[in-house]
Amino acid sequence: MSETNKEAVIRLRGVSFTYDELPEGISEAEARAKGAPMAVDALDLDIYDGECVAVLGHNGSGKSTFAKLCNGILVPDYGDILVYGINTREEDRLLELRQKVGMVFQNPDNQIVATVVEEDVAFGPENLGFPPEEIRARVDSALKAVRMYKYRGHEPHKLSGGQKQRVAIAGILAMKPECILFDESTAMLDPKGRRDIMRIIRKMHDEMKKTVVYITHYMEEAALADRVIVMENGKVISDGTPVEVFSDIDRIRAVGLDVPEATELGALLREEGMALPDILTTEDCIEALANTLTVKGA
Ligand SMILES: Nc1ncnc2c1ncn2[C@@H]1O[C@H](COP(=O)(O)OP(=O)(O)OP(=O)(O)O)[C@@H](O)[C@H]1O
Ligand SMILES: [Mg+2]
Repeated sequence: MSETNKEAVIRLRGVSFTYDELPEGISEAEARAKGAPMAVDALDLDIYDGECVAVLGHNGSGKSTFAKLCNGILVPDYGDILVYGINTREEDRLLELRQKVGMVFQNPDNQIVATVVEEDVAFGPENLGFPPEEIRARVDSALKAVRMYKYRGHEPHKLSGGQKQRVAIAGILAMKPECILFDESTAMLDPKGRRDIMRIIRKMHDEMKKTVVYITHYMEEAALADRVIVMENGKVISDGTPVEVFSDIDRIRAVGLDVPEATELGALLREEGMALPDILTTEDCIEALANTLTVKGA
């Protein structure tokens, strides 16, 4: 979190949300007494300016609900969320909020609205009523950022899944958001498509200085973040750097997740008495083993 400014841009306080229909005015205690299942459960959480955060958790742990609450798609039943100072309950500021925080979903097909790539990317800025030259500039720069500029005249449905997802991301970038939420945006892609999207996510954070939060099922992807949050039953059960979170292998396993394979191998070798540094990625693992073996003169 070295480049992070300690200003919370997304702040959740006591946030609970249930998909059950609640009677008007029912208190939180009453709702709980009635057994309303809380998809997000009394959550206190801060996302700080400039962070790159991965959110992990088993199916149904509340990750998507959390993301939708941050973007004002859902409104808490109890508690409050402040997003860049906007309370997500302020309906008349929803457009302002969505300009600050963009969201990219899992299925690129559901996010593409136009029949030509550049028209699709222009859709958001056009709705905001910008002049044509401003729209052109935003579309070109967004398409270049995701390396899809040369496809600007193509038909989206003829592109690969990964390319479509990059177009969807360009559509969000063209809105110039401060923060982007990704809800398993790599899940439907092949390994190359996934790597491309992860590279773009890191670039948005490292070069474009966006605050980035991405939900993933892939431990290797989570290991690339600066902060990892693990959710279970609508609560945060682990929150720290990837090294901190993944070093507690038992806790991760207890909620039905795995640590990255390289981390696990490192832990096993350490148990066997090998002195190894923290290992998160395959590259870390290769380097650590090479160094250790060189020291041993092997
Ligand atoms: N539209 C809905 N109606 C009713 N219950 C829902 C709805 N969407 C989610 N839920 C429930 O809310 C809880 C949290 O779901 P959520 O989709 O936020 O989890 P998730 O961590 O994103 O899961 P996944 O990894 O499967 O995407 C789950 O118990 C789920 O069954
Ligand atoms: Mg989900």
